[in-house]
Amino acid sequence: MSRIAYVNGRCLPHGAATVHIEDRGYQFTDGVYEVIAVRHGVLIDGEWHMQRLQRSLSELQIDMPMSPAALNVVLKETVRRNRFSIGIVYVQISRGVARRDHPFPNPPVRPALVVTARRTPPTPAKTIDEGVAVISQPDIRWERCDIKSISLLPNVLAKQAARSQGGFEAWQVDGQGFVTEGGSTNAWIINNEGSLVTRPVENAILNGITRRRLIALAKAQGMQVEERPFSLEEAKSAREAFLTSTTAFVTPVVRIDDAILANGRPGSQTLALRQLYVDFMAETAT
Ligand code: PDD
Repeated sequence: MSRIAYVNGRCLPHGAATVHIEDRGYQFTDGVYEVIAVRHGVLIDGEWHMQRLQRSLSELQIDMPMSPAALNVVLKETVRRNRFSIGIVYVQISRGVARRDHPFPNPPVRPALVVTARRTPPTPAKTIDEGVAVISQPDIRWERCDIKSISLLPNVLAKQAARSQGGFEAWQVDGQGFVTEGGSTNAWIINNEGSLVTRPVENAILNGITRRRLIALAKAQGMQVEERPFSLEEAKSAREAFLTSTTAFVTPVVRIDDAILANGRPGSQTLALRQLYVDFMAETAT
């Protein structure tokens, strides 16, 4: 089945879909994006993703290329045309095409919109049964990590460092020794009292939609959630740890650098949280 991409108002075969060489997304990473999980045509927490997209754009003074309702139609139509039941839809909006010059084009140009969608394979059983390892890396990113910008080079380097050491993710650590987040996931620990601990939402991390949803689901179950910074040292001696994202859902972490957490197996609370999130997705999509 051939894939279809949406580019600036046109649906094209994926291999033939292109953007201009002077798109500011390409030249300056001057743009933002979202990745949304899809289940049977339903966009999981689509409204929250749309709100975050609008916020990212407004922080960069880029206009929405169309209304949220119209964009939602484009997202769903791109999903439909790609014919899969479980996957993701990717949306990227850049400031548009202009002669290369750092300041914003004046007058403004039309923002460029790209949407792709594809099926995603199920999470390997090994990831859930055995958990994953993370490495720590200094957080070398800018001070606006709350914007879901396509400037991802430090994230790419962090993630590659993890992969080259056999890890799944890199937990980035700020100048005070506190974990910010992973290269493409939010970071969590569970302390000895069974409380979930995750960094509060501010400029140092992305306000993850999975994070936000999981906080709501966990609180509804009566679990304690502490939104506070935690240090790498605290994480290494935590009872359990896990990471969250649109593509990883809730993934158990069993090793941080050389420190093996607890008995080295995914924690029971983490696995319960994963189930809670998977059930939430299934319910949303029925
Ligand atoms: N990444 N932190 C960072 C830096 C991220 O890039 C992401 C998402 C998250 C988790 O956010 P959410 O729960 O909304 O997916 C946290 C996406 C999936 C990506 O870049 O592919």
